[in-house]
Amino acid sequence: MHPSPGDWNQFYSQFLRKTGIDLALYKPSQLQRRILSMVEQQGCKDLAAFYQWMNSTPANVEWFLDKMAINVSELFRNPEKWAEIENRVLPELLGKGKGLRAWSAGCSYGAEAHSLAMILHANFRGVHSVLGTDIDTAALNQARSGEFSDADVRCVPDKYKREYLRESQGKWTAQPSLKGLLKFQRQNLLADRFEQGFDLIMCRNVVIYFTDEAKDKLYQRFFDSLAPGGYLWVGSTERVFKAQDLGFETPLPFFYRKPLMGQKLWRTAS
Ligand SMILES: C[S@@+](CC[C@H](N)C(=O)[O-])C[C@H]1O[C@@H](n2cnc3c(N)ncnc32)[C@H](O)[C@@H]1O
Repeated sequence: MHPSPGDWNQFYSQFLRKTGIDLALYKPSQLQRRILSMVEQQGCKDLAAFYQWMNSTPANVEWFLDKMAINVSELFRNPEKWAEIENRVLPELLGKGKGLRAWSAGCSYGAEAHSLAMILHANFRGVHSVLGTDIDTAALNQARSGEFSDADVRCVPDKYKREYLRESQGKWTAQPSLKGLLKFQRQNLLADRFEQGFDLIMCRNVVIYFTDEAKDKLYQRFFDSLAPGGYLWVGSTERVFKAQDLGFETPLPFFYRKPLMGQKLWRTAS
């Protein structure tokens, strides 16, 4: 099956009307390959038939989003970066003794948000909050349950595993002490309103599917959502190409800081 550009446009605009999600903001090569494999899986003869199938019940739309999203994650993913957060970024952000307001944007099933909650609860006094948002409601439901697999916990430092996770029959459950810090809600990063005043925004391994224009706009909106001195943390294969134009400082690789007016705390990383 080889849909024409017109077929794709029709599919995108029907989907946008139905869900508010603009698929034209995703990189076409990856997105279309993934959609065509779903069309085949459902035995539909073309995109129009696939849209009809999807439109027949909300569960089918959820299935589509779940498949499209690719939720791969794990607790303390890229452990060396988590050490930097714990030892350099958080002490700077929490130096004044107030609590931290953090956001895991594209949180999948909550591994990143739970990792940060463990570090905050164990090491830093104050009233902290960690918001996790994602477009995928199935992933968010799992995030709220605080349940993780063996594979998810392989990078968790022993002290945090002992304190914050309980194992039963191959399933690891986050301790209730973390619940008060965490909140999960659905949000489309490419369309919905952002809250303001975050000290830390983590958006890792999410934008790889977005077009360059969509990424630029998103990073501008993250900049606006940060409090002065706040940090944006991106994935270990990602870069904010227009960081300087947007006004970010780059104190550490993969970390971008909104300046505290007139004050530079670290020299720019090479
Ligand atoms: C690979 S996971 C990243 C999880 C976590 N940030 C990490 O690095 O381990 C990518 C997540 O981005 C979410 N996502 C994709 N498009 C999105 C959008 N427009 N708005 C919000 N979340 C989105 C997916 O649902 C998926 O859960």
